[in-house]
Amino acid sequence: KPRIVVLISGSGSNMAAIADAVKQGDIDAEISAVICNRPEAPGLQKAKDRDIETQVIDHKEFASREDFDVALMRCIDDYQPDLVVLAGFMRILTADFVIRYHGRMLNIHPSLLPKYQGLNTHQRALDAGDEQHGVTVHFVTEELDGGPNVIQAVIPVYDGDDAISLQQRVHSQEHVIYPIAVKWFVNGRLTMKGNDALLDGNILPNNGLQ
Ligand code: GAR
Repeated sequence: KPRIVVLISGSGSNMAAIADAVKQGDIDAEISAVICNRPEAPGLQKAKDRDIETQVIDHKEFASREDFDVALMRCIDDYQPDLVVLAGFMRILTADFVIRYHGRMLNIHPSLLPKYQGLNTHQRALDAGDEQHGVTVHFVTEELDGGPNVIQAVIPVYDGDDAISLQQRVHSQEHVIYPIAVKWFVNGRLTMKGNDALLDGNILPNNGLQ
């Protein structure tokens, strides 16, 4: 079976959604490990509850980003994964790291990329007066939040929405689209070629599938 390693920093709800899809047989793969850079992250318990091996690599124990990434790569490579899934992993990765997992690393970002790369995406969508907001699964390339998009979920922005209400609606959509993208990848349907994401060999539109 294809092997998946999931990287988290926080609550781990996307990891849990993917793990539950694996358990239900919806995703035909195994999650070899969940690796976390914060020892106190609640997502670690969610992984243990699902009998998934966990590893903590605390970035604070490393002198540089490079040293941390080398340790992280060693840990990931111990599991020889086919796919690396970033699920709320809140560290900027070095170029060496990104290149190593080229074409086999996915990320989820809470905006309709290419809009709102970086942080505070919900507030920025509100401040801009956007009528639509959403979330994107994309391949990871050296450009931060910039790789080819795979799938997006769009949500409406209502009068009276605030960053919290938007975040909650986005989050529930994340748990729908991330397992779909992972399933496509492990079934060999999703690939990256140049700066394009391909589904069944067809180039996906810039927004990914919506
Ligand atoms: C998710 O909303 C994800 O989109 C976001 O972190 C959250 C993690 O939630 N990722 C980023 O902001 C990446 N820049 P989770 O730990 O419950 O899966």
